[in-house]
Amino acid sequence: MAHSKILYGLCFYMLLLGLVHAQLSTNFYAATCPNALSAIRTAVLKAVSKEHRMGASLLRLHFHDCFLSGPSWTVQLGRRDSTTASFAAANSDLPSPLMDLSDLITSFSNKGFTAKEMVALSGSHTIGQARCLMFRNRVYNETTLDSTLATSLKSSCPGTGSDDSLSSLDAVTPVTFDNSYFKNLANNKGLLHSDQQLFSGGTTDSQVKTYSLNSATFYADFAKAMVKMGSISPLTGSDGQIRTNCAKVN
Ligand SMILES: *[C@@H]1O[C@H](CO)[C@@H](O)[C@H](O)[C@H]1NC(C)=O
Repeated sequence: MAHSKILYGLCFYMLLLGLVHAQLSTNFYAATCPNALSAIRTAVLKAVSKEHRMGASLLRLHFHDCFLSGPSWTVQLGRRDSTTASFAAANSDLPSPLMDLSDLITSFSNKGFTAKEMVALSGSHTIGQARCLMFRNRVYNETTLDSTLATSLKSSCPGTGSDDSLSSLDAVTPVTFDNSYFKNLANNKGLLHSDQQLFSGGTTDSQVKTYSLNSATFYADFAKAMVKMGSISPLTGSDGQIRTNCAKVN
């Protein structure tokens, strides 16, 4: 509910924009709607304090420039909405939680990200949850999962049924944005197969180790990678549209 209100609010501010800008900028709303960012910030903080999962949901939507802890960065504004939506492309382009390291690296590389940026972005799994269906095989069949965590996960994620039962991606500090996701990986406590792949004897192990020991390094790399993600082929100027309902094409 609050979620859709925030999205509505964002759309509303975008609608207020009469001017057409040709590219993203951090002060896109400075003249047309100077209070936009503080209003958004207030609404986001309120929503997150009411419902902790909102932080993860918003992070997933890439609508974020503030956290109660953790990194912050300056967001490039003025991105317009697509006139199309593809269920098939969403399924084929987004990396799967069942992927091995090499496929994860390929999937991110297809969008212009290095393996290093992929590891940094994966740190967003310090908050948020996943469905039983997405990690059942890992819990029951994989030997690379900490046995104490496996036992506790089995109680809410049985061998069959309860596919939608949720567990935290970071079981240690599930609602705090910190570097414990990487500490977990170093201790074989990654929830998803794709999480643990980042620390499984491959080329990304050393970076996971670095982040697990140094949150400042993680935050700096994460912020840079998020800004980069926000600039993936953005629609600007008169391209695309400004949706009256963010969830669907006008
Ligand atoms: C475990 O692996 C076997 C063999 O691949 C598979 O048939 C079974 O469904 C898996 N169990 C779970 C809980 O995913």
